[in-house]
Amino acid sequence: MAVTTQQLIQWKRQSRPIVTLTAWDYAIAQLLDAVGVDVILVGDSMAMVTLGYQNTLPLTLEETLHHTKAVRRGVKRALVVCDLPFLTYQESPQQAMHSAGRALKETGAQAVKLEGGYPAIAQTVAQLTAAGIPVMGHVGLTPQSVHQLGYRKQGKTQDASERILQEAIALSEAGAFAIVLEHIPDDLALQITQKIPIPTIGIGAGPHCDGQVLVTSDLLGLSEYKPPFAKSYVDLRQIITQAVQEFSTEVRERQFPEPEQH
Ligand code: KIV
Repeated sequence: MAVTTQQLIQWKRQSRPIVTLTAWDYAIAQLLDAVGVDVILVGDSMAMVTLGYQNTLPLTLEETLHHTKAVRRGVKRALVVCDLPFLTYQESPQQAMHSAGRALKETGAQAVKLEGGYPAIAQTVAQLTAAGIPVMGHVGLTPQSVHQLGYRKQGKTQDASERILQEAIALSEAGAFAIVLEHIPDDLALQITQKIPIPTIGIGAGPHCDGQVLVTSDLLGLSEYKPPFAKSYVDLRQIITQAVQEFSTEVRERQFPEPEQH
């Protein structure tokens, strides 16, 4: 059965952890979905890991829609969430409605994600959800604010921690169906997770969240740079390098193609 936003909220109530990963193309999406990943996020981290940008800021809505369509074609079960890029929703709720509407209409994604908390973003979330567009929030380290926050852990002081808690509550009250908590202290993530009725999906936020997300290229060992809180389960950079070196050697030494490839 296809995963729905209501199902995720039910899984939180049942303490059933939610597995979330990012994807950027058809092949990766198909593999993740076949394994049973619950939520596939077409994250704007693809700006760096797939498109070679310095950070997430240059990514356009057109690029995001293009990749989300490819991901959606590879998915049968998981909930597909399209991460709205920088300045495609911050200007006004109308701009957010236009971008989110395009994401759902043109790609087949079932939800959008946007970064930041209250008050302006929470108002936008309220308008999107009132229009039937499911929204995943994202608080703590929000990479679209890199020039303001850097990539440092957030919520380390009493004030900052209280602000992030209030943002999460505001997003939940505005109708978000889940919230990503990125790079915040474990105890703050626990507090938020206990306080709001919707699932928290952690990345660098400790073990107490209702689910965990990784950028798939970090998990696969494909990223040039991996944040300290990410884990690689395989070193695909090394495996691919070795395979390409073997092919190159075989071509140069006229060992490829062998008879079975004729
Ligand atoms: O863009 C992304 O990959 C994300 C995850 C880190 C949650 O927002």
